[in-house]
Formats: sequence, C-alpha cells, structure tokens
Amino acid sequence: MEYRLTEKEFEYVQAFKRDLHMHPETAHHEFRTTEKIKEALSSLPGIDILDTGFRTGLIAVIRGREEGKKILLRADIDAIVQNEEYESPWKSQTPGVMHACGHDLHTSSLIGAAVILSKIKAAGELKNTVYLLFQPAEEGTTGARMVLDSGVLDEIKPDMCFGFHNWPKLRSGTVACHKGVLMSGKRNFTINIKGSGGHGSMPHLNIDPIVCSAAVIQSLQTVVSRNMDPLDSAVLSVSMIEGGKPVNVVADDVTMTATIRSLSDKALDRAIERVESITMNTAHAYECEAEIDWKERIPSVFNTDEMYEVALRAAEETGAEITDVEPSLASEDFALYRTVAPSFFYWIGSTPEGEEPEDLHRPRFHTDDSIMKTAAELFVRAAMTE
Ligand code: NI
Repeated sequence: MEYRLTEKEFEYVQAFKRDLHMHPETAHHEFRTTEKIKEALSSLPGIDILDTGFRTGLIAVIRGREEGKKILLRADIDAIVQNEEYESPWKSQTPGVMHACGHDLHTSSLIGAAVILSKIKAAGELKNTVYLLFQPAEEGTTGARMVLDSGVLDEIKPDMCFGFHNWPKLRSGTVACHKGVLMSGKRNFTINIKGSGGHGSMPHLNIDPIVCSAAVIQSLQTVVSRNMDPLDSAVLSVSMIEGGKPVNVVADDVTMTATIRSLSDKALDRAIERVESITMNTAHAYECEAEIDWKERIPSVFNTDEMYEVALRAAEETGAEITDVEPSLASEDFALYRTVAPSFFYWIGSTPEGEEPEDLHRPRFHTDDSIMKTAAELFVRAAMTE
C-alpha cells in the first residue's frame, strides 16, 4: 500500500489549503474552516466525525482493529491578526487576518493524511484506530486547553499523540526530530498597579502609579540577570503598558502585560516566584496596590526518549532528510497533550533551497506547499506505529 499522496490527491489537498489561505479565521472563530474540514472528511469513506460539542474545530476517527493502538494526530486550524503582504492568487481576502503561521498547511496536511488513511482502511490494512484532531485557537494557546477541558481525550485515552509545525529556517521537506525539550514553556500575565489620581501639580495628595510602574519594570529586569542560572535561563518581556490621560492629571492605575518563557520548568518556577515578589513589594514601597492576573502556564514541548525512537522511525520511513535542531523559545499548546499521552512534535522545513526564510507571523510569510506530501505521509507513518 502506497503511503504517499498521488499527484491528483496532492492537487486536491493544495486546492484545499489555498481556499483556507484565502479565508483565514482567528482563534475560536474558525467556523468556515471547520465546515470545510467537515465537508472534506465526509467525502472520505470510513471516517466518522465525533460529537464533541466543540464550537470550532473537531475530532474525526478512522477505526482500526481491536488489538491496535489509539493514535491521535493533531493539526491547528487558526490564523492570526496580520495583514498579508505576500502577493499570490490565493492571498487572504480578509483584511488584517492572515494564515501567517502556516496552520492552513498543517490542517491541509492532516486532510491529506485522512485521504491516505481512508484508503488504507478500505484495503483492510488499518490496525490502529486513528483520531484526527483539528484544534482551534493555537494562537493565544487556549485551544488545547478547551480540548482537554471537554473531557473527550479522557474518553478516547490515546496511546500516543503526534503533531508538527512548519519551520521556515529549515530547508523544504527536511524533518527535524529532536529529543528532549523542543519549544519553550511560558506564562503570560497582566499586572495592574493601582494608585490614587489627582491634579498633576499636587503630588503630595496623590499616589502615582506611573512612577511605581516604571520602578516595577526596571526591577523585573533583574529576574533574568540576577535570579536565573545563566546556563538554565529564562526570558521576561513587558510587552504593553497603558495608563494615564491628560498632561496635568496623575493616573489612577496602570496596566501592563508581560510574558516569561523558559526551556526549563525549574527556571520558569523561579521566575514566576520572583515576578510575584518584586511586583508586590515594589508596589508596596511606592504606596500602590498591585494585582497580577496569571494566565495558564503552558509547559514546554518535550519529546521523550521513547517517543523519539518511535517518531524517528516514522520519519525515516518517509525517506525525508532528517535533522536535529536547537530548541526554540517559541511556545506551542501541543505541549499540553503530554498531560494525556506520550507525545511527539516534529518541525518540517518550509523554505525552498535558494530562498531566504520568511519568519512565522510576518506579513510576507508563505509556505512551500510541496512539503504537505512529506507531512501527510509522516502523519500516516506515525499513525501506523506498531
Ligand atoms: Ni503556529
């Protein structure tokens, strides 16, 4: 049995991807995308869509034999807020929204895998039961949480999960298999500093949250420089600050948003502890009140030794060039699936030889569609794991 897309099947998958690319939808609003996925899966024999109750996204199943494993293949489906500047006949038709992370390619690759798996099932050669998870809202990392909270994976109890991200810094079709931590853990947070506003000419009657916020931001810079092991470090960035209005009025409060990322759980723990202490105590020193709203902690994407062996074998079977990579401080909510089952995350190179890589999330980002052949086959080989 052939595990690769035929030219005709590839053309179908490419047309599917181009359609998604023209109609990008942001996190939790992937309604049209979900309908298109449903349509595509419904046309394939042997595939059932589960009744999960998801508002967007879905899980489909291709049932194998009783003695087989249960394998979950995951693709993310959402686009981002970005204006597309790359010219093509299938450029985004929604101003300000774009598939600038290539999730359209991930989704279409999984559709490609469904095409192949449907044929394998029809030929009576499918041993494992394969679940196809089209996950919404990877951007903002709330989609995997929604899937986990639905409880559906507790019922499915997958034995293994696989996913991938296109990676512009790698040459087209190269598959990166990395053992250990691949992508960063992260915790986003919002700080609110409350003072007491008043006339700008009477500082003795007010409590100024702007001066306090400046001190908090400065002091937070010491978390990485003074509290982290230089060989096991973290990143801390304050990315937004907002507060105050006219020139002669002291503000009532200031809000800032920030992120901490680290490849190690230990460093992330320590950084969180220090942010809490520095913020609260600095606010106190300036007679302000501080509140920190911690968002969900996303663990690192971690490929275990056992999963590495399995995943490497599947990659080798595709005949693709395989490489190892340095981890990235980018994060991925695929990481949460390792709380349910052993998981493996691949990167697949997406920049053709001779072209300069255009980074993820950039307005001129685009992917090399031909890598969907490798991606679809890789999904299928992983799904056929003995
Ligand atoms: Ni992405």
